[in-house]
Amino acid sequence: MTSYPVNMTVTPQVQAFFDEATNTISYIVRDPGSDACAIIDSVMDIDYAAGRITYDHADALIRSIEEQGCRLEWIIETHVHADHLSAAPYIQDRLGGKIGIGSKIMVVQDTFGKVFNEGTEFQRDGSQFDKLFEDGDRYMIGTMEAFALYTPGHTPACMTHVIGDAAFVGDTLFMPDGGSARADFPGGDAGELYDSIQKVLRLPDEMRLFMCHDYGPNGRDIQWETTVAEEKAHNIHVGGGKTREDFIKFRTERDATLAMPKLIIPSLQVNMRAGEVPRDKDGNPVLKVPVNGL
Ligand SMILES: [Fe+2]
Repeated sequence: MTSYPVNMTVTPQVQAFFDEATNTISYIVRDPGSDACAIIDSVMDIDYAAGRITYDHADALIRSIEEQGCRLEWIIETHVHADHLSAAPYIQDRLGGKIGIGSKIMVVQDTFGKVFNEGTEFQRDGSQFDKLFEDGDRYMIGTMEAFALYTPGHTPACMTHVIGDAAFVGDTLFMPDGGSARADFPGGDAGELYDSIQKVLRLPDEMRLFMCHDYGPNGRDIQWETTVAEEKAHNIHVGGGKTREDFIKFRTERDATLAMPKLIIPSLQVNMRAGEVPRDKDGNPVLKVPVNGL
């Protein structure tokens, strides 16, 4: 996309729900002009050691939407998360709404379909989702127009969603003192991530930016909201005019030191299925652990 269809006069109400177990922030984005809302990046709770799934975090989102009397139109994933499981189908069963993700989900499904040795019944065409967003796709949340901006690099399917004066960047950026997310998962690319961050930083300076994760670097309290201007000036990985070359070198060296996220194995299997837990031949929900597969 070369020019963005931004409307800074629309100010959606944004409610954040922080998940302590995975440092993920889920959002309810509400149209000020109607009763419509969207959820961005929901979380399903898992006790992986026990193989137990619960829904406290998702229930808090559902309760809030019900209390406000809102209509859920969209359940959006900014990307296939590797550190938490999506609760999209659980929420959809209760409140409706369309589940959407970037169309490059097909690349992710192909890559991890092989890693998890999925059979032919696992479709690699994104058909588990209701909507596959392409770069620049516009869509409505009630009376608000939103658009999807393709921001790969952390993963091949990452999208930033711009809704009025608010942009949901997924893992394309962290708070200024957190920098950026890793780019070493299969299909990730540090150079692409740099280019995607530049795309986000070309949004208006006053645009509100909402993160998918925060880890409270240097002991500060958890935060999730900043602006384009703040990121441009202060982001420790890309702010102050750092070059693409510097970024690639730094990111590649840093990523080589990082351990795999604790929940990557269950997260990928569930999230590449739009939040559905895979089933064995008898229909029981089961997760696999491929040995030395990642
Ligand atoms: Fe991520």
